[in-house]
Amino acid sequence: MRRQPLERVTVRAPAKVNLHLSVGRRRTDGFHELTTVFQAVGLYDELDAVPADALTVTVTGEHAEHVPADGSNLAVRAAALLGMETGRTPNVMLTIRKGIPVAGGCAGGSADAAAALVACDALWGTNLGRAELGKLAGRLGSDVPFSLHGGTALGTGRGEQLTPVLGHGSFSWVLALAEDGLSTPEVYGELDRQRESGPVAVVTDAAGVLAALRTGDAVALGHALSNDLQPAAVALRPQLSLLLEAGKQLGALGGLVSGSGPTVAFLARNDDHAVALAGALQGQGACRSVRRADGPVPGARVIEVA
Ligand code: C5P
Repeated sequence: MRRQPLERVTVRAPAKVNLHLSVGRRRTDGFHELTTVFQAVGLYDELDAVPADALTVTVTGEHAEHVPADGSNLAVRAAALLGMETGRTPNVMLTIRKGIPVAGGCAGGSADAAAALVACDALWGTNLGRAELGKLAGRLGSDVPFSLHGGTALGTGRGEQLTPVLGHGSFSWVLALAEDGLSTPEVYGELDRQRESGPVAVVTDAAGVLAALRTGDAVALGHALSNDLQPAAVALRPQLSLLLEAGKQLGALGGLVSGSGPTVAFLARNDDHAVALAGALQGQGACRSVRRADGPVPGARVIEVA
C-alpha cells in the first residue's frame, strides 16, 4: 500500500537556559570560544510545516512582529538548507507560534530552526536522522544543535559542539521576561569592550554546575550558576541588576541572565516555590511577565502529523 503524502507536520522545540557560560577569546571568524552548560526548559515554540508552492513563514505570538518573515528567518534558512542538501525544492509553508521570548537569550530563533529541520525532514520523508540534522544545525547557528538535542549538554567551540550531561532530577525555573529584547552580537561586543578597558572576571570551569547536576542538588546548582555575558547584559540594561536582586530577596536558589539576555532565569526550590516566586516577581513589577518552566526537557520533536 502506498503511503499517503503528509499534509502537515507539527514540531515543538524548547527554550534553553545556560547554567554556566564562560566566554573565551574572540576568534578570527568573529565568534567567541565558549564553554557552556545548556539546559532545555519547558517553554516552547511550535512550528507547522505544510506543502506549498513556495517557501514562506508566518510568525504569531507575543512580539512576533520583531521576528523577520523573509529569507533571513532562521526557520526559512533551515528549510532551504535541508532542501539544498537533499536535492529538493523547499516549497513549504511554515507557521511559527512563539512561546519563547523573542530576542531573550533563550534560543528562540534556534528553536525555530531546529523545529523546521525536524518538520521538513518528516514532511519530505528525507529521514536524515539526528546526527545528520545536527550537522546542518551547526551551520545555521551556534545554539541550533542544542535546540535539536535538548536535555542538558556541555557546549564547546562556539557552542555548537555538544556532549550530553548525565544528571539526576528535574529543576523548577522561573523565567522573568523583559519588555524589549537584546541583540546577541551587541552583548558580545559590550563584553569585548569591557575586557579592553579593564579586567573582567572570567569563569572557565563548569565543574561546579556539572557536580550539582550529577547529584541533582538544586541548592548547589543555584550557587554554581554563572554567566560571563551577564555583566555586559547588565551594562546595556542596568535595571536587570534590580531584577536579579529581587529574585535573591524572594529566596531563589540562584538567578542569572540567560545567555545574552535580557531574560533572567531563577532557580526555585520546588514547584510550589516557583509558583510563589513567579507571583511575587510579577507583583513587584520588576519585569514584563514571568513564566514557569521545568528542565531538562527533550529537544525539537514531532508532536502531530496529519
Ligand atoms: O551563532 P549565532 O548566529 O546564534 O550567533 C549570533 C551572534 O552572537 C554572532 O554573530 C556573534 O556576534 C555572537 N556569538 C559569538 N560567539 C559565540 C556565539 C555567538 O560571538 N560563540
